[in-house]
Amino acid sequence: MTTLAKPDGNAGRWVREDAKAGTFKVSREAFTSQEVLDLEKERIFDRSWLYLGHASELKSANDYLTRSVGGRELIFNRNRKGEYQAFFNVCPHRGAQVVREPKGNAISFKCFYHGWAFNNNGKFATKSSPKTYPESFDCDGSVDLLRVPRLDSYRDFFFISYDESIVPLPGYLAGVKEILNFIGDQSPNGMEIVGGTQEYSIRANWKLLCENSYDGYHAAETHETYFEYLIDELGGVDAVNFKALNEHNGILDLGNGHAATQVKAPWGRPIARAIPTWGEKGKADEQRILAELTERVGPERALKIAD
Ligand code: FES
Repeated sequence: MTTLAKPDGNAGRWVREDAKAGTFKVSREAFTSQEVLDLEKERIFDRSWLYLGHASELKSANDYLTRSVGGRELIFNRNRKGEYQAFFNVCPHRGAQVVREPKGNAISFKCFYHGWAFNNNGKFATKSSPKTYPESFDCDGSVDLLRVPRLDSYRDFFFISYDESIVPLPGYLAGVKEILNFIGDQSPNGMEIVGGTQEYSIRANWKLLCENSYDGYHAAETHETYFEYLIDELGGVDAVNFKALNEHNGILDLGNGHAATQVKAPWGRPIARAIPTWGEKGKADEQRILAELTERVGPERALKIAD
């Protein structure tokens, strides 16, 4: 039996695992303890590759967007040459948030507090006189915006890490790369994040969100309204192939702690699974898309993408 002690080594346990018995028990307190959350930020989020955004969200040179990642405010931008970059959205002067808009196009950023300005490579660019800081303050880039230590991408999905010495992104992603390939390969024209953002916040521990994502069997109860809509939309309960949900059903171990659920979809998918209510035209369109997909990525991968 393996037991993981609380960080302070005192009374109680967070996790109790018994491989022989096949049990893995987690104390409920691990989901509510601020102490555990602080340690998770330090030992997980500060040491992982974290998703930042997709290349298509910054279409042109000098485009930028601001985003909160792993508890830190960031600027994700492209410079005049079109290179992708990531900076902490924190003024090196006295710590104010520099960029306050969610997105835009700019060759420079100006901090509202004392007016320090930076070009979109993060370099200090204030020409004001008199200077608002002593000469000794300006050394080794200390007046520039701070770059996020690591930025890398896979198939136009950009990730950052706050850990300079983290392993390279491709090895870290392990089997996730194939999932991203499935997403990126859907269209012969590449992938684009469509305009608009849906944001939501959850008053829950982040681990519950992960647990919920791997827990497919809650769907019928929790999302009953959605399934009723689906049945109506598809023309009755017999029109929905719910049995398909059990085909290829399972949780995939993608390596390095990554996982995904896999089911065969009983509902329609624009790429490339038609349902009766889309009519003959919808069916023909989907057949054409599936044929192109099959030719491009092969029949097995095409069906995984479509189904
Ligand atoms: S805090 Fe930004 S200019 Fe002073």
